[in-house]
Amino acid sequence: MAIVIKPAVPADAASIEAFVEAGNAVREVSFPKWRHYTPRMAELMLSVPMPAVRHEFFVAWQDGQPVGRIMADIPTKENLDVLAADVWVIPSARRKGIGTKLFEFTKSLADSYDRKRLFASSLWPAEGFEYPDSSGAAFAEHLGYKPSMVDMSRRLDVTAADDAAHEGMLQRAKAKATDYTVVQWKGLPPSQYAEDLAYLDSRLGTDAPQGELNIEAPKIDADRMRAFQKANLAREKIGYHTAAVHAQTGRLVAWTTITKEQSLAWHGFQQITIVDPDHRGNRLGALVKVENLRFLRAEEPTVTSIDTFNAADNSYMIAINESMGFKPLYAFQNWQREI
Ligand SMILES: CC(C)(COP(=O)(O)OP(=O)(O)OC[C@H]1O[C@@H](n2cnc3c(N)ncnc32)[C@H](O)[C@@H]1OP(=O)(O)O)[C@@H](O)C(=O)NCCC(=O)NCCS
Repeated sequence: MAIVIKPAVPADAASIEAFVEAGNAVREVSFPKWRHYTPRMAELMLSVPMPAVRHEFFVAWQDGQPVGRIMADIPTKENLDVLAADVWVIPSARRKGIGTKLFEFTKSLADSYDRKRLFASSLWPAEGFEYPDSSGAAFAEHLGYKPSMVDMSRRLDVTAADDAAHEGMLQRAKAKATDYTVVQWKGLPPSQYAEDLAYLDSRLGTDAPQGELNIEAPKIDADRMRAFQKANLAREKIGYHTAAVHAQTGRLVAWTTITKEQSLAWHGFQQITIVDPDHRGNRLGALVKVENLRFLRAEEPTVTSIDTFNAADNSYMIAINESMGFKPLYAFQNWQREI
C-alpha cells in the first residue's frame, strides 16, 4: 500500500495526535524508558518559535494509519548547511522500505533549505547501558551515515535519591567554594546576570566535547539567551536555575538548569552545567547541581525521574552525575552524512 507523507501542524489536531501516536509506538519497543512527547509538547514545539532552530514534523500514513514520523530541526542562525532529522517507523511496519522512503523525503526537505549535511541520532551499544533496539544504528550505517559522537543518557531515580550523599557533596563543595554565593530563579533570569549567562552559554558550544561532529558554535548574546528562555516558558517548559556568584567581582560564574514540561508530571531534564574556566577547581559544578536538584524537588514533588546527557568523554561531569546517583540509561550515536 502506498505511503503518504504529510506535515503535522498545530492547526490540525489529528495530525499532531498521529505524530505523537507513531512516536509512542516506537518508544515502547525502542526506548521503553524514555520520556514520551505529549500532544501539547509537540504542538508547542511547532507553534512557538525558538531563536535559532525551526522544527518541522511529518507523519507517514498507510491505509489511514500513522506508520512513521520525521522530526526535523532546521538551524536558522549557525550551521546553515545542516538539517537534523530522526526517522522513526512503528515496529509492525518495519523492513518494508518505509524508513528509506522517509529518508528520501528528508533529503528533499534538506535540499529545499539548501542544506548539505544531515544529522541523525540512534541508540548505540555501550557497556552498562540498555540497548533494546539495534535497528537505528543498522539503518544509519546502511544509509552511509558516519558515527560522530556518542552521548550517554543517565537517569536519577528521585524516589531513591540518597539525601545523605547529596548533603555530603554539598558540604564538601561549600568548604572549597567559600568565595561564592548561590542564587536561584525559576523561568526568566534576573536581568543583572544576562551578560554573564550569555557568556557562559556561548562557552558551552566551544567547551563541551563535540567528538567528530562538525558543528559551528552558536554565538549567544544576552538578547538571544533571553529570547531562548522566553520561548521555553511559552512552550510551557519551566526552567529551574542555580548559579554561583563570585563575591569579589559580583560575576555569575557557574550555572545549571533543570527543565520540567508542564504537561509531563513525572519527568525533568538536567540540562547545561557550565563553570567559567577561570573559576574551575572550586567544586562549583557539584555545588550548583546539588542545590538545583533540591530546588526542583521542593517545587515539583511529582517529578520521579531526571535525565541528563553527557558526551561519552566528558568525564568530569559524568563523575559528578554518578556521585549524585544518576545511573546509565541509553547511549546514543550522533550520525552525520554529506548529501
Ligand atoms: C531504523 C528504522 C527507521 C528503519 O525503518 P524501516 O522502515 O524498517 O527501514 P527500511 O525497511 O527502509 O530499511 C532499510 C535498510 O536498513 C537496514 N536495516 C533497517 N533495520 C534493520 C535492522 N533491524 N537490522 C539490520 N538492518 C536493518 C537494512 O539494510 C534495510 O534494508 P533491508 O530490509 O533490505 O535489509 C526503524 O527501525 C526505527 O524506527 N527504529 C527506531 C528509531 C531509530 O533509531 N531511527 C533511526 C534514526 S537514524
